[in-house]
Amino acid sequence: MKSTAILLLLVAFVTLSAAAKDYKAPWVEIDPSRVYRPKDLRQSERLFHEAKMKEIIDHAVSKGSVFASSVVNATSGQTICINTNAVGQKKDMTQHGEIVVMQNCSSIYGLFDWTGFYLYTTGESCPMCQSAAMWNRYSKIIFGSSIKFLYCNHCQSQILIESQVINAMGYGLNDFGEYVPAQIIGGILEENTNSLFKNYCNPGPNDTNSQSAQPACLTDSDDE
Ligand SMILES: *[C@@H]1O[C@H](CO)[C@@H](O)[C@H](O)[C@H]1NC(C)=O
Ligand SMILES: *[C@@H]1O[C@H](CO)[C@@H](O)[C@H](O)[C@H]1NC(C)=O
Ligand SMILES: *[C@@H]1O[C@H](CO)[C@@H](O)[C@H](O)[C@H]1NC(C)=O
Ligand SMILES: [Zn+2]
Repeated sequence: MKSTAILLLLVAFVTLSAAAKDYKAPWVEIDPSRVYRPKDLRQSERLFHEAKMKEIIDHAVSKGSVFASSVVNATSGQTICINTNAVGQKKDMTQHGEIVVMQNCSSIYGLFDWTGFYLYTTGESCPMCQSAAMWNRYSKIIFGSSIKFLYCNHCQSQILIESQVINAMGYGLNDFGEYVPAQIIGGILEENTNSLFKNYCNPGPNDTNSQSAQPACLTDSDDE
């Protein structure tokens, strides 16, 4: 039964990849953006991001959540909005922490253009949140745990496009003049955020959590 399913999947995959070979985007495809790591940053900047990451980790813990996000005014250094994921509370799968905090901040401050503001998140932005941050033009997007870690090591459900891939493709946006790609900084306090997230790889017999995924990762998933 199981091997039949796998065989069918394999056939479907081979068929699909043959079709995908013929696909060509009608615009120029850009290489993924660089993801800056803690070691790439000046100490003062690294310490700043670590303090802001600690703030959302503490906020998540205080709310009994793991996905927390904040918006920081880069000019003043102040955190102006901080929220957690509200999927369960609102019964809405799109209420990820980043969406909640960006909507919260937009309704409070009424800005269209968030150039000069940073978006912090305990887990790397999914394609929906990354795209939303680009529409809003956040200047930096800073995450703790990577999608690769959450999906490959912790079996968490995800749409499998890393934020750096989407980040590079914003050049079609022109609402406030030519698009300047956000800087993505990953792995800030990731030892802390990595241990925050639940590991769904070995669910108990009664654990039917919908977040549980069976990863199809190609390489071993140690983050460098
Ligand atoms: C961001 O900080 C600057 C400098 O303090 C201030 O002038 C501006 O009003 C702030 N904007 C928001 C939305 O907090
Ligand atoms: C923004 O989020 C805070 C914290 O959850 C909440 O108290 C406030 O009502 C929200 N404001 C808006 C306009 O959504
Ligand atoms: C799973 O659920 C059954 C039935 O409610 C219960 O008897 C069993 O102890 C549970 N097993 C675990 C590991 O929680
Ligand atoms: Zn998301």
